[in-house]
Amino acid sequence: MGARGKLIAGNWKMNGLRAALAEAEKIGAGAASMPEGIDLAICPPATLAGALSDLLKPTSVALGGQDCHPAASGAHTGDVSAEMWADLGARYVIVGHSERRADHGETDEIVAKKAEAAFRAGLTPIICLGESLEERDSGQAVNVVERQLRGSVPDTGANKPFVIAYEPVWAIGTGRTPTVEQVEEVHDRIRGAIVERFGEGQNQTRLLYGGSVKPANAGELMHASNVDGALVGGASLKADDFLAIATASA
Ligand code: PGA
Repeated sequence: MGARGKLIAGNWKMNGLRAALAEAEKIGAGAASMPEGIDLAICPPATLAGALSDLLKPTSVALGGQDCHPAASGAHTGDVSAEMWADLGARYVIVGHSERRADHGETDEIVAKKAEAAFRAGLTPIICLGESLEERDSGQAVNVVERQLRGSVPDTGANKPFVIAYEPVWAIGTGRTPTVEQVEEVHDRIRGAIVERFGEGQNQTRLLYGGSVKPANAGELMHASNVDGALVGGASLKADDFLAIATASA
């Protein structure tokens, strides 16, 4: 276990009716027997966030949002602000997930504003980056991720806690994963770029891998160099799978 410890964050996306609270309860109970240095978080849809906030409070599992608006409040129908997540006791908020970039046209510039909103509210943003299949196949993966990193992490990130999630778009929900060597190549470059830009102090920034993480592949992926945890979509909806991924990461 590296000095940074590991963060295993579940991104429920637009999944989960109230029946899913039973899974969160199981995750909360399972967290008590996690190995040392493994932190867990669940990022539920907004409709379940209030209930989850109450349910997770007595456990070590953190609450996270899936997105936030750059502004603190105002006339933005349908949006949720970072301050609102903080008010619920959330510790994290995901920004710049590739589904937000694709479905809502979010650019690096918008993502950076959302990350700044998270800092303003005292939250730790989980800033998502990742290349498309076309970009991977044309040998551009590392360049694309470095460009997204520069644009999506605001300058105000210096000495602030933030998390990076490297999620190749072609690995999300597809059952395909990059090789350990491919993950390490990107993560090593991300680590280098962060330290170069913000200094050695930013060495504590955790770098998550995301995209089809399952109990069967978590052990290998989570022990790759500069991998400090996972952002888990589909497999986080089942408590047993999510906890198995966390255990395999130790
Ligand atoms: P997946 O999603 O685990 O279902 O591939 C990961 C993500 O999009 O965060």
